[in-house]
Amino acid sequence: MSRRFILWGAVFLGVTALFAADLFQMPKLSPDVRKQAAELYDQECYACHRWNRKFAGPAMRANVERYLEDPRALFDYLKDPKPIHPDQYRPMEIKKLSDQEASMMVAWLLSLVKDSSAVDRPR
Ligand code: HEC
Repeated sequence: MSRRFILWGAVFLGVTALFAADLFQMPKLSPDVRKQAAELYDQECYACHRWNRKFAGPAMRANVERYLEDPRALFDYLKDPKPIHPDQYRPMEIKKLSDQEASMMVAWLLSLVKDSSAVDRPR
């Protein structure tokens, strides 16, 4: 392989990575989006999760804290849950979330970790 080929290959990969990173954007948390996220949580998450303690699944605050630096990974997990603690829990089974549902859930949950006195924080 020529040097030039490798160089252009690297440029191509870099540009592709930039576009891939762009696909995930956290929505603005308007009051309306917060409300939608809270409702979705009530319907799809609250059955198994409590904020501060273990329930059918691990405590939500600790879950979300793991993703503070990497919201994209939380988005990916919610879109397609993979086993995380197979020794302690069964893999999470939830309804298929749309990209819009998953991204507003990520934005909302991360905001709650940063401000857990928010009035719409689930129990
Ligand atoms: C049927 C029960 C159930 C429901 C409903 C459920 N979860 Fe879970 N959740 C679990 C279990 C069990 C685990 C632990 C899975 C594992 O360790 O593989 C988990 C783990 C998680 C984690 C931790 C991932 C990690 O990296 O540690 C997050 C975040 C999470 N759930 C978010 C949600 C959200 C958001 C919803 C609603 C859209 C939801 N869960 C609905 C049972 C559930």
